[in-house]
Amino acid sequence: MSSDIVYLDGAYIAAQEAKVSVFDRGFLFGDSVYEVIPYYRGVSFRLEPHLKRLEHSLAALRIPLTLDWPAVLDELVSRNGGGNLSVYLQVTRGDAGRRTPVYDASMKPTVFACCNPIRDIYADGADGVAGIGVIVTADLRWHRCDIKANGLLPNILVLQQAREEGADEALMIRDGVLTEGGSSNLFIVKSGVLYTPKLGSEILGGTTRELVLELARAAGIPYQETDLSYENLLEADEVWISSSTRAVVPVLRVDGKTVGDGTKGPLWRRMFELFSQFHRRLMTGEE
Ligand code: PDD
Repeated sequence: MSSDIVYLDGAYIAAQEAKVSVFDRGFLFGDSVYEVIPYYRGVSFRLEPHLKRLEHSLAALRIPLTLDWPAVLDELVSRNGGGNLSVYLQVTRGDAGRRTPVYDASMKPTVFACCNPIRDIYADGADGVAGIGVIVTADLRWHRCDIKANGLLPNILVLQQAREEGADEALMIRDGVLTEGGSSNLFIVKSGVLYTPKLGSEILGGTTRELVLELARAAGIPYQETDLSYENLLEADEVWISSSTRAVVPVLRVDGKTVGDGTKGPLWRRMFELFSQFHRRLMTGEE
């Protein structure tokens, strides 16, 4: 479902009215970056880390842009009625007027944002969260996965493969090392310790991943950022994925094999409770 009002280059307009040039480099080359930020009851959830990552992505592509993002996004959310929404924003290098790979550094970026309704994942507590199944497949992406770029073809292909095989997410593996999901980061639990792939150019630095580690630190849950293998995954007591609109989700099946005892694990329940408390503090203005 698309939102009624979108933001395009300074204007708030009806989605049907929003038009981008066929010579926009985002369309022709995927020369663009994006972010997805959840809002609950009209309040952004971790906007700052998203904007920090956006800055990182824009700098990597050398797209110059200064914009009061909090003001733009808050206005867009309020024009779409507030509530529980995910905001999608995209910045392309702009409209070059013709197709040519080399760009002129003075181009004006195209800036687009829209909203999509989301479920309040905290509304029904841990019992309201369904465990999922994942497949593991080759990571066919480039070596700058730290940039949240729109060239998502490898992600789309593995996510579609997962869906067609009855799973909900595809975990990717490169040179024997697990990287991340098609649209999420990976965590495993073994003997009470939380493990997650370390940051670098092979994975996206997830804002939710960052919050998991922040909350683990504050709660005294031991964790390590390290390389993980397929065997580590199969032998894990618990497996989770994390992303902005889903928070932390327990994985109960990997390639059809049961994880741990096949139920949502105790450390996941604890982490979900820490997320719920964080969310409650945000909603009451304490965070
Ligand atoms: N994706 N890794 C990949 C490849 C992702 O696409 C995402 C999120 C994440 C998690 O990042 P975060 O916790 O900041 O949402 C990790 C968004 C939600 C998307 O593409 O829709």
